[in-house]
Amino acid sequence: MNRQLRLGIILFLLTISLAFTAGQITQATPRIACQGCMMDGGMMGGNRQDMGIVHQLFANHSLIRRTVKEIPGGVRTVTESDIPQVTALIQAHVKSMHRRVDEGRRFAMMSRTLPIMFRNANRYERKFELTPKGIVVTKTSDDPNLVPVLREHSREVSGFVEGGKPGMGGGRRRWW
Ligand code: HEM
Repeated sequence: MNRQLRLGIILFLLTISLAFTAGQITQATPRIACQGCMMDGGMMGGNRQDMGIVHQLFANHSLIRRTVKEIPGGVRTVTESDIPQVTALIQAHVKSMHRRVDEGRRFAMMSRTLPIMFRNANRYERKFELTPKGIVVTKTSDDPNLVPVLREHSREVSGFVEGGKPGMGGGRRRWW
């Protein structure tokens, strides 16, 4: 075998092994490249940032686990991840969404229930408590018509966690 051929084979093998290693890393790393999300900075809560976080939650839905329990007057949910960056996304999303509901800044794409919840923001109570891996949320209401809506929304979120981003049929196509 001449020298050039040997060099060619070595280079070829090197390229293959580099490509393989890069593939492994990409697969094992959660897709959390949310540039500009700035969890702790002043950018949180803007439309672009909120959309960016939702996008990242969908991209990492298989790394999230969730339980939903019906309680008197509403629902209690636990949403967590073992990946710290995904935990941070979940916590940032809920904080920002609750702020939006409080301030009436609609964000209601892909959901039949969110438009109703935004319209009735002062008729249900929402609380969250951070856990080391995520968040516990309780939503309750005295209005018997609103209670099933709160529960249904939590089931919608569970659907996102289980199935990722849904097809565009069914829910509404509006973001706000
Ligand atoms: C994988 C995707 C998603 C995850 C993991 C997620 C997670 C959560 C969690 C944990 C809550 C707290 C309420 C509960 O636990 O039931 C929540 C609330 C909320 N989410 Fe999401 N969400 C996702 C997608 C979306 C999308 C697509 C939208 C709308 C564009 C959205 C908008 C909201 C809003 C407005 C609230 C506040 C409503 C409330 O709880 O009072 N989320 N989400």
